[in-house]
Amino acid sequence: MNSTQNKKWISIEDLDNYKEAAVPEIRTAMETAVDQVVRNLPEFTDRFPGPNSFDNFYRPGDNVEWTTGFWTGEIWLAYENARTEEEKEALRKAGEIQVDSFMKRIVDRIDVDHHDMGFLYSLSCVAAYKLTGMEKAKEAALLAADNLVSRFQPKGEFLQAWGEMGAPDNYRFIIDCLLNLPLLYWAYEETGVDKYRDIAEKHIHTALANVIREDDSTWHTFFMNPETGEPDHGATCQGYRDGSAWARGQAWGVYGTAVGYRYTKREEYIGYFKRVTTYFLKHLPEDLCPFWDLEFGDGDEQPRDSSSAVIAACGMLEMSKYMEKADSEYYTSVALKLLKQMIDKYSVKDPKKSNGLLLMGTYSKKSPYNTCTEAGVDECVIWGDYFYMEALYRVLDPEWKSYW
Ligand code: GLY
Repeated sequence: MNSTQNKKWISIEDLDNYKEAAVPEIRTAMETAVDQVVRNLPEFTDRFPGPNSFDNFYRPGDNVEWTTGFWTGEIWLAYENARTEEEKEALRKAGEIQVDSFMKRIVDRIDVDHHDMGFLYSLSCVAAYKLTGMEKAKEAALLAADNLVSRFQPKGEFLQAWGEMGAPDNYRFIIDCLLNLPLLYWAYEETGVDKYRDIAEKHIHTALANVIREDDSTWHTFFMNPETGEPDHGATCQGYRDGSAWARGQAWGVYGTAVGYRYTKREEYIGYFKRVTTYFLKHLPEDLCPFWDLEFGDGDEQPRDSSSAVIAACGMLEMSKYMEKADSEYYTSVALKLLKQMIDKYSVKDPKKSNGLLLMGTYSKKSPYNTCTEAGVDECVIWGDYFYMEALYRVLDPEWKSYW
């Protein structure tokens, strides 16, 4: 594309030159994805894929980490898109077996001392309950919501992400948590107990008041003062450096502001959505698949993170439901352009090459300036696969009843 030659990033105007994914190609992509999920059931029903693949193949493991709900979410999305009754029944059974595992996990408190209850339980148990009415799924999801509520810090009004509650070196929230909050809104709607909604609203407000910088990029993590509850400082864990914009963090911001608006209907959140989304789009390379940190662009020898593109696409499709016509059409169109690139260049078409759905994600890339452990660089990542399917389904069925 001539207009973008020799540039690190595209400009917003360049987006006009890209093609949208058309419904028939989205339908074919969904069929390919469902086939892959069904093919994976024998290996991944009693056990779960890990957060990332190794040479593009996931390995089976236990129901631990913050990521196993994404696989169960893929099973439920495949269930909704199954082409035969037999396939649908096989997917339902697998989903229900996994709900049992999630119940055991919360009751036995296996790796649940953190805030990622929404990622784990919205996509596994809330989805199961919404689709099949399974009571056990509802009970497990409510226990997970209670666990999330127990991470609330009244001083500063936020949900503490990681570590021992109140520890000064962990007195912080992270931008990712915005996607954990739908679990609390669901619990409020199911039980009528105000605390779930009130805590979610307080956290959203604290997060969005602090996490967006003046230039519309976002902090990955943000510390509050444990003595006063006042905002203290931002820092990165998985981004390249403190002041850069970790691509997935910015994408969590795109989807997170959309979810924040959906539940609170606060007008200013539409403005926040536009700011973080515009920053994200202005830092895309020519093929629209971001590098793992938005500081990098074409010409930089860095890995991509395809999962950020599909998370942002889902956020744009969600927010477009609540916007006036021109904005709604614009963000839908941009999401379709990102999806076209993902389908054409990043999706798995041959199961001999990968047992995942979307190639070239990055979980955590170590840099001299960040605090993460390197894992899953240039691999499939399980949330990338999930959000790829969710984005496809959002286009195929704009009335889809979200699991979030
Ligand atoms: N929530 C952790 C991550 O996005 O890697």
